[in-house]
Amino acid sequence: MTHENAGLSSMDDSEKRAHPPRSPSADIKRRRDGTLRRPSQRDVGKVGEARKRRANDLEGREWTRNSISVWSDLKRDSEESTLKHPAIYPKAMVSRLLDCFTTSEDQTVLDPFSGSGSTLLAAWLRGKAGVGFEINPEYVNLTRTRQESLQVEKSIPGGEIKLFGQDARALPEKLKPGSVDICITSPPYWDILTQRRTADSKSIRHYGEMDEDLGRIKDYDEFLAALTEVFTGVLRALRPGGYCLVNVMDLRKGPHFYPLHSDLAKEMQAGGWTWDDLIIWDRRLEYNHMRPLGYPAVFRINKAHEYILVMQRREETNG
Ligand SMILES: C[S@@+](CC[C@H](N)C(=O)[O-])C[C@H]1O[C@@H](n2cnc3c(N)ncnc32)[C@H](O)[C@@H]1O
Repeated sequence: MTHENAGLSSMDDSEKRAHPPRSPSADIKRRRDGTLRRPSQRDVGKVGEARKRRANDLEGREWTRNSISVWSDLKRDSEESTLKHPAIYPKAMVSRLLDCFTTSEDQTVLDPFSGSGSTLLAAWLRGKAGVGFEINPEYVNLTRTRQESLQVEKSIPGGEIKLFGQDARALPEKLKPGSVDICITSPPYWDILTQRRTADSKSIRHYGEMDEDLGRIKDYDEFLAALTEVFTGVLRALRPGGYCLVNVMDLRKGPHFYPLHSDLAKEMQAGGWTWDDLIIWDRRLEYNHMRPLGYPAVFRINKAHEYILVMQRREETNG
């Protein structure tokens, strides 16, 4: 079975009725001069109720490439590799997620844990509006500095960045219901950055000493509850049908394994989200100092991948 077929066969009956399976390339029309034309949102609307809204603006080959469940080619660019933040993801990852889960009409991109601003900057570079929350003023400043230097390098099409230097749990007070088109984020990975690193022996680097930092909560269940509170605010701020892509990894503390990706997804489901799918972010391009963990007493897994949870606010959710 091909990847595309696997995806289609996993649709339930109601989904099949709402979105009949079709090849993306079937939408591409040939002009009289022989060149290809993608349908506009208006064209798609004409086809009928069931096909009113396109998922994205991708054409067939790129659609198929991005739909493969393991993403192995993402890495930081030269602008990103010098930055001082312990957990940055590349703008290229955000850009690909925007390619897959938005059209040019979707304009507002949210990151409740903005860090160095990767999501907001990637959105802004594409002329979209970025809205973010970040408690550490150092990272708020870093985002502004990055924005200025990127502005000098390139001519930017005209989006804007709105960054609240405060706790993401204040999100419902700041954003109107349904005002956001997509959320792309990476929350703190519990308090793991405050722990000694056994896999690579690198020195400890965490997000600072702020009381509101969710990465300082010691109790795992309390930490999950705090994250879930933030994502409940996100659900309300997102437009119906919109996606929330959450980058997380599983954790180990000594003998205990914590499957953070599935624990968080289940909490989010209980709060009204639909867990739509999962992408594996294979980081072997960057992780090249692996050691024989646990040798010789216990065989431990060297984690070289993270996850991107594909969560959706389905149309019927009254979040
Ligand atoms: C994994 S990092 C995000 C990194 C980001 N994706 C990037 O590429 O730079 C998580 C961020 O959440 C911030 N943070 C922790 N608790 C927070 C809270 N309650 N509200 C807002 N931001 C918070 C931390 O300061 C940290 O910068």
